[in-house]
Amino acid sequence: MCGIVGVLGNHEVAPILVESLRRLEYRGYDSAGIATVNDAGQLHRRRAVGKLANLSDLLVHDSLPGKSGIGHTRWATHGAPTTDNAHPHRAGPVSVVHNGIIENFRELREELAAKGIKFVTETDTETVALLTQQHLRQGMDPRTAVEATLKRLEGAFALCFLFDGETDLMFAARKGSPLAIGHGDGEMFVGSDAIALAPMTDRITYLEEGDYAVITRAGAQIFDAAGAPVERAVKTVQMDAARIEKAGYKHFMAKEIAQQPTVVGEVLNDYVRGDKIVMDLGGIDFAKVERLSIVACGTAYYAGLTAKYWFEHYARLPVDIDVASEFRYREAPFAPGTLGVFVSQSGETADTLAALRYTKGKADKVLSLINVPESSIARESDVAVEIHAGIEVSVASTKAFTCQLATFAILALKAAHDRGQLDDASLAAHLADLRALPGLLSHALAIDTAVQGVARKLESARDVLFLGRGQMFPLALEGALKLKEISYIHAEGYASGELKHGPIALIDKDTPTVVMAPHDGLFDKTVSNMQEVMARGGRVILVSDVKAADKAAEGVWQTITMPDAPELIQPILYAVPAQLLAYHTAIAKGTDVDQPRNLAKSVTVE
Ligand code: AGP
Repeated sequence: MCGIVGVLGNHEVAPILVESLRRLEYRGYDSAGIATVNDAGQLHRRRAVGKLANLSDLLVHDSLPGKSGIGHTRWATHGAPTTDNAHPHRAGPVSVVHNGIIENFRELREELAAKGIKFVTETDTETVALLTQQHLRQGMDPRTAVEATLKRLEGAFALCFLFDGETDLMFAARKGSPLAIGHGDGEMFVGSDAIALAPMTDRITYLEEGDYAVITRAGAQIFDAAGAPVERAVKTVQMDAARIEKAGYKHFMAKEIAQQPTVVGEVLNDYVRGDKIVMDLGGIDFAKVERLSIVACGTAYYAGLTAKYWFEHYARLPVDIDVASEFRYREAPFAPGTLGVFVSQSGETADTLAALRYTKGKADKVLSLINVPESSIARESDVAVEIHAGIEVSVASTKAFTCQLATFAILALKAAHDRGQLDDASLAAHLADLRALPGLLSHALAIDTAVQGVARKLESARDVLFLGRGQMFPLALEGALKLKEISYIHAEGYASGELKHGPIALIDKDTPTVVMAPHDGLFDKTVSNMQEVMARGGRVILVSDVKAADKAAEGVWQTITMPDAPELIQPILYAVPAQLLAYHTAIAKGTDVDQPRNLAKSVTVE
């Protein structure tokens, strides 16, 4: 899940390419590179391993003139993060940047090697450049050469091509991975998303599956997979720069954690009017829905898992929940009356998108919870419900999670009311609880200092367990994921009752256990599990409210005290201590909080 960009400009493009890549760095930061064609028509490139800053430094000493160029920031799939494996790749007059995976690259490599062609990288992408070079050598012009190459590629790709000798020509192609074209005044742009193009234009065309484009400064000719010319809409996408600045915070993650009261408030403002829920679901009638199939990845999956508890408890609506990478190949059968529900912050996660495409036509309808309205998942859903979290830059998802939960809570209450499981008065009472959420989230953020103290004790841990029961079980999973992602401490979340069926063997004084346990109906059960841990010398960090903490304080190592909250909203509120614990532990360990190793914000490959 790399970030790619292309510019046919009227000014030197190197600084423009670097600025766009800065906006795409959340997609991968293993290496970065640009290539340009200078006014003499010569193609040159510069590449550097690691963060984009390394490429910027290189360009200070070794600039790259030219008004046409392409750029790339990498999340390594094939070949280690080295300069040789860094994009743009080049084969003679052809230069290419790529996001995705060429699944048949080995066959193509063998075919090219049989012709005596040498490879200088370990990447799948190099075969694209070499294949195109072959087609040129067979007398094809650049466009025909690119078209011939695209026909040979299998897998997922967003590609951008630049040619030596061509100062006003670029090609872009999309299959699986997202790609957008930006329209300027006498200038044209290509980018993995609209964020990358925002400094240059707000007039965007999203390429559809299988599209490719022939681009000059005069405009873009777009063709579908069959090679037929097609018209794709030009949309105006509002994207202001300020929204991807740290606004004075040390990290985007800290900013995004602090934004939660506001953005969750926006979810409520948009979907709750007094004692009524106002949500356009494109004609979906929950009274006729027999079953939900919720599919997602990572943190979004944990939001879906929490929602399962709500739909089944409040709406008596059965829910199947799956991780997308398993669901898409399990070829699950669909019962009539099933609503397919997909959750994705980026809206471009390859596994979730593929699961959605599998579900379309099998489920009655496809509804998705999305944070990027122009994303592929949003565009391919029958109904796309926005979660209003705003741009989330930090790889570790925080505000998107709480906004996904708030949106799901409203959806579950709507389903319960539409199915006659909740009367007006009960609905009004639950909506009143939800309206208290922004205030309670602000209150919860005040535990920051206390959590810092606990985090300092956690930083030396080898392993950490997280426990939760009922709707707090997914929160335990999310807490473990957050800690893993940014502090690199091995952590596992478990249903509290499951501990004694094996994981309790891990318990010793070096394996702290974080127990997410508000004073709900299952609290006493969770306390018994806590005591089983303490009985074996385990150190417990109890995350709970005052009443519960007092009741269960004996033997507990550390306590993080949360504000009291109605049961429905407890999972949303308890996301905050899970996030802050991970954040401060990562700070204590000195890891890269916003761009943790080996991760990327949007996973556009399998
Ligand atoms: C969460 O912190 C991670 N970045 C990751 O698990 C993420 O939730 C997952 O990749 C799904 O992403 P999506 O919501 O953009 O589809």
